[in-house]
Amino acid sequence: MSREVPRVLFANRRPGLTASLAEFERGGGYRGLRRAVAELSPAEVRRLVADSGLRGRGGAGFPTGVKWSFFPHDAPPDKYLVANCDEMEPGTYKDGELILADPHQLVEGLIVSAYALGANRATVFIRYDYERAACALERALAEAREAGYLGEHILGSDFSLEIHVHRSAGRYILGEETALLNGLEGRRPNPRLRPPFPAQKGLFGRPTNVQNVETLACVPHIVAHGPQWFRGLARTPEGAGTKLFGLSGHLERTECFELPIGTPLREIVEEWGGGVWRGRRFKACLPGGASTPFLDARALDVPMDFTALEKAGSRLGTAGVTVFDDRTCMLRVTHNLISFFARESCGFCTPCREGLPMVRECLARLEAGRGTLDDVDWLKEQVPRINLSFCALAQGAMGPLSSLLALFGDEVLDHVGRGRCPLGEG
Ligand SMILES: Cc1cc2nc3c(=O)[nH]c(=O)nc-3n(C[C@H](O)[C@H](O)[C@H](O)COP(=O)(O)O)c2cc1C
Repeated sequence: MSREVPRVLFANRRPGLTASLAEFERGGGYRGLRRAVAELSPAEVRRLVADSGLRGRGGAGFPTGVKWSFFPHDAPPDKYLVANCDEMEPGTYKDGELILADPHQLVEGLIVSAYALGANRATVFIRYDYERAACALERALAEAREAGYLGEHILGSDFSLEIHVHRSAGRYILGEETALLNGLEGRRPNPRLRPPFPAQKGLFGRPTNVQNVETLACVPHIVAHGPQWFRGLARTPEGAGTKLFGLSGHLERTECFELPIGTPLREIVEEWGGGVWRGRRFKACLPGGASTPFLDARALDVPMDFTALEKAGSRLGTAGVTVFDDRTCMLRVTHNLISFFARESCGFCTPCREGLPMVRECLARLEAGRGTLDDVDWLKEQVPRINLSFCALAQGAMGPLSSLLALFGDEVLDHVGRGRCPLGEG
């Protein structure tokens, strides 16, 4: 059986159940909030978060303390905090699991973070088909209001906050933070030009901080237990905290696990995932969602932290780990992923709107054995071109494509040489 690991974000997780306010409080819930409003100034909370080494869990891994330092804390209201639970990246489902298991964690995370930032309004932007999670969250918000954790003069302090739940209309681009803000304003969700950054001019032109659900959920734990404790949760000195790893693909067990940052990929695959299914061998994985470059078996001993994965040529991303067995055609996988990204393009910029469908057609030709060596060269040329896209959607799509060409180039060429898929697929 798998080793003992710290349970912080999933401490109250029970199969099929959602933790109540009473359960959350019994486990130390709202202790971070109590400490923040009674003992700490907003600047002191921001300092704790900066010292903790917390990095964004939504994909880019930007240091949260640095992001918060750009926020105009003293600007007059309204100032907004938005929890990003769009979570439409294939292979990523951890935020939905977190809210379903223990919605008060997000509620407390939002309240403490809003206190630190000086925000007076908060919104949870939630994936349209996370209806059960949205309902659990609304119940938790009502409980929190009733208990005095939310609303006017929280726990008798000068701090007041309202939190709303907004159900997404359901597009991947809405996860991009500026497209999300346009969506919240009822506009077409194209990404916005930066600068101005949302911290200066965000929702309805007001200072806005967009943060991932899991990132926010870490904040009260940091306030309650201190930044050194948080750093100590990780298995590598560069890492900090735990991480929700959502496993999928060709594993015996495809669940979401909370593990220390820096847990080696091999341990995640073999111990937590129960090994590659059907007794087959590991061929590749996406370590952090569909927009991260593939890793092959040479990377199995890489610690899953931001720094080590970048050195290994990929990214921690959302830590949605999708595993592929040795019978998988990686060209087929990439074709499937690019089809998703092409479909989800908002159409705003040319490299994404035009480039991704062209790449998709080229991959379809190659997969069917009708491609040429010129097609392979053409694909290579598209990577730097599409990387010029306006936002990170198409750049993310280039992760799987460029790593397909770098790691599985022979397999691609084999499709051309044989005029069919060498693995019998297609
Ligand atoms: C196409 C696209 C989709 C994204 N989807 C999400 C998402 O579902 N959830 C999320 O937290 N961040 C998503 N992001 C990243 C956000 O733009 C933003 O960086 C993040 O919410 C910041 O939170 P963090 O610093 O806590 O990670 C997406 C980015 C892009 C380009």
